[in-house]
Amino acid sequence: MLEPDLKIEPVSPAIGCEVSDVDLAKPLSSTIIKTLRTALLDYGVIFIRGQDLSPAQQMNVAEAFGEPDKYPFVEGLPGFPCVTPVLKRAHESVNFGGLWHSDTTYQQCPPMGTLLHARTLPPIGGDTLFSSMSAAYDSLSNGMKDMLSGMKAVNSAHKSRVSDTRANRIKETGKDVEGLVMEAVHPVVRTHPESGKKALYINGAHTTRFEGMTEPESEGLLSFLFRHQVREEFTCRLRWTPGAVVFWDNRCTQHFPLNDYTGHERLLHRITLKGDVPR
Ligand code: SIN
Repeated sequence: MLEPDLKIEPVSPAIGCEVSDVDLAKPLSSTIIKTLRTALLDYGVIFIRGQDLSPAQQMNVAEAFGEPDKYPFVEGLPGFPCVTPVLKRAHESVNFGGLWHSDTTYQQCPPMGTLLHARTLPPIGGDTLFSSMSAAYDSLSNGMKDMLSGMKAVNSAHKSRVSDTRANRIKETGKDVEGLVMEAVHPVVRTHPESGKKALYINGAHTTRFEGMTEPESEGLLSFLFRHQVREEFTCRLRWTPGAVVFWDNRCTQHFPLNDYTGHERLLHRITLKGDVPR
């Protein structure tokens, strides 16, 4: 049963929906939580516009859906270690996470999802693109699906392109990551633990090679899959508006924040939710 007035509109055939008439600052009823969770499973990404959440309120929302986690590389906000500022200052040229990726797949248990809340937006630009990894998997040939089934890939935090996107924030509020394991082996195709759908689970930011193969041996097939998994028909694009909240399912989506607003500040508050071992 939907709460009165709560509306869900798909934004593209493959991925994403907009939910309207919800106030996330108010305590969320179990019906609203269930409806939003179902929408997340059905659409992979949900957009909720026009919210105004303090870090504490955003934490309450996150805790309704899972257990918030700390980002390994950068400190959270003072008093809110699980709320990471995703910031690009006006004078900077590189944006945080500015390439297609799923969040922190170099961890043994990468996040199940991420909640991002707009705080300061450029006058135009800074949109975020999302791509459905289950749509990308479904569209592969049976031969390719058979080949990928059972394959695993190595995911590392240290590929240079993604490392570069964190450098400005690490300079200001970086954490000591000495001793943390920043590499994990995961299935190339994972089965979503809630929906049972299969999804491609490699990404250009973190995946370095197939298990048991060298990087040069892996390169050809990985490049094909990196291109395939972000084909336009699997994607949708969010134009941020003040206070917008996005909640994505990190187990079956990727995202790509565009970097087309240099000269303006963009700040969002991000909370990731703990996930399980991909299988
Ligand atoms: C991220 O990868 O968490 C940042 C996404 C964004 O800035 O839109």
